[in-house]
Amino acid sequence: HSTSPMIVVANRLPFIISKDPENGKLIRKQCAGGLVTAVAPVVVETGGLWVGWPGVHLEDGIVEIPESDPEDKSPTAGLKSSQVVPVDLHKQVFDDYYNGCCNACFWPLFHSMPDRAVFQGDKWEAYKTVNQEFAALTVEAVRRLKKKSPNDVPLIWLHDYHLMLAANHIRAACELEGLEIKLAFFLHIPFPSWDIVRLFPWDDELLQGILGCDSIGFHIEDYCLNFIDCCKRRLGCRVDREYRLVEHNMRTVSVNHLPISIPYDRFVKLAESAPVVVKNRAKEQLLLGVDRLDYTKGLVHRIKAFERLLEKYPEHRNNVTFLQVAVPSRTDVKEYQELKEELDQLIGSVNGKFSTANWSPIRYIYGCVSQDQLAAFYRDASVCVVTPLRDGMNLVAKEFVACQTREPGVLLLSPFAGAGNSMHEALLVNPYETNEFAEILNRALTMPKDERELRMRQLRRREKHLDVNFWLRSFLKSVDCLADSNRSAS
Ligand code: UDP
Ligand code: G6P
Repeated sequence: HSTSPMIVVANRLPFIISKDPENGKLIRKQCAGGLVTAVAPVVVETGGLWVGWPGVHLEDGIVEIPESDPEDKSPTAGLKSSQVVPVDLHKQVFDDYYNGCCNACFWPLFHSMPDRAVFQGDKWEAYKTVNQEFAALTVEAVRRLKKKSPNDVPLIWLHDYHLMLAANHIRAACELEGLEIKLAFFLHIPFPSWDIVRLFPWDDELLQGILGCDSIGFHIEDYCLNFIDCCKRRLGCRVDREYRLVEHNMRTVSVNHLPISIPYDRFVKLAESAPVVVKNRAKEQLLLGVDRLDYTKGLVHRIKAFERLLEKYPEHRNNVTFLQVAVPSRTDVKEYQELKEELDQLIGSVNGKFSTANWSPIRYIYGCVSQDQLAAFYRDASVCVVTPLRDGMNLVAKEFVACQTREPGVLLLSPFAGAGNSMHEALLVNPYETNEFAEILNRALTMPKDERELRMRQLRRREKHLDVNFWLRSFLKSVDCLADSNRSAS
């Protein structure tokens, strides 16, 4: 690993702080996710810091981060409270920034669903304000690290669409104080084409904001090329598509394709030790879906395809069950509330249509499942259905593959997820084509064992090698290379 201490800046802290209902004391609640598992250990090891929103509004500016519980085995357990910088924001400003701008505008726009995006000047203003506040606290964190070890050059790593404007503020403040830093950005969602980006009324500010970093990372090459194209067309930057460089404000910014992944070995261990949770009858096959309840995930299309399967291939009735886990998400946003209603109704109607006294086609969990349970679901599913309409990467596809430690199952994957770019042995399915989708579901359910084995073996081999540590090492390498080339150029 790089020896410079890292300052991770993300909208969320790696845990949520909440009040213990019994004694009112503040406690850490773990939130799972690839980013936390991958990045937290490096922050711990390098004595770095994590700047983010604690998930609650802490009253009266009294911000007290509790230490981790002695029993805590999660990747953030080693993170001392002194390494955490909570961003405590005014409730209304935060709501305008998070729900109004990030969730209601950037999320749909970047997923190429512009009809769902709402563009509002006041929400954009709140976004700018919040990015400045994150930047100010980050600079404060740099000062702290510099005081401790003046010769280190801290690496500041900004994450995701919440923080696209923070870099220039951080850079300006650090330059003024003569604080040397490295600035990197990683986008966890797709970066769309110029056609879509240009719909955003303040697209120039957005692009300039991202270009405030020295190194920018996206999951796949297409997103890199989209970004470079936008810089050229909107800002007139000189660009090099082959070496993925953008010149801006007398600086050269490098654009890297860094596909995120999962802690593969950890999931294998979980799958090996997890007890069986889904009790199946002898011949029953389990189709599995695991998603946040989000309109980008294609849940409605998926249920309709499953309904078509049951209509067209009645032999699957009674023998196949669809287990769908839908994690509640962004419940303050109208689109998410409407989706929940639509899905509730659709699932009700499919279940009503096909259920018998002893069987229902769909089991639907609206809630969060622990990683242990999830590993058991992944391990025991015959088919995992990962069919987003659009998705930056999708970690569920990779977790399923890692957990396939017993009878090999089949992965159904949408080509519109970043994961579809590299998981070639999955069955690709266009979620918009309901008939074809139903055919591919049938093919997956009836695939001979040797074909399943062959596909799964190759999928597992690739994911084991290109795991989250590989992602992190590639990122650190891209940042170090950049520092070297800048030095030799100056
Ligand atoms: N997840 C979880 N519990 C659940 C459902 C999902 O911990 O009940 C985790 C899952 O293991 C995965 C993450 O949520 O790591 C979802 O990541 P993904 O990239 O698939 O989608 P995102 O939610 O980031 O859009
Ligand atoms: C996606 C985004 C993350 C975000 C997560 C959960 O994975 O890329 O930045 O944290 O969804 O969404 P939430 O709005 O609850 O943070």
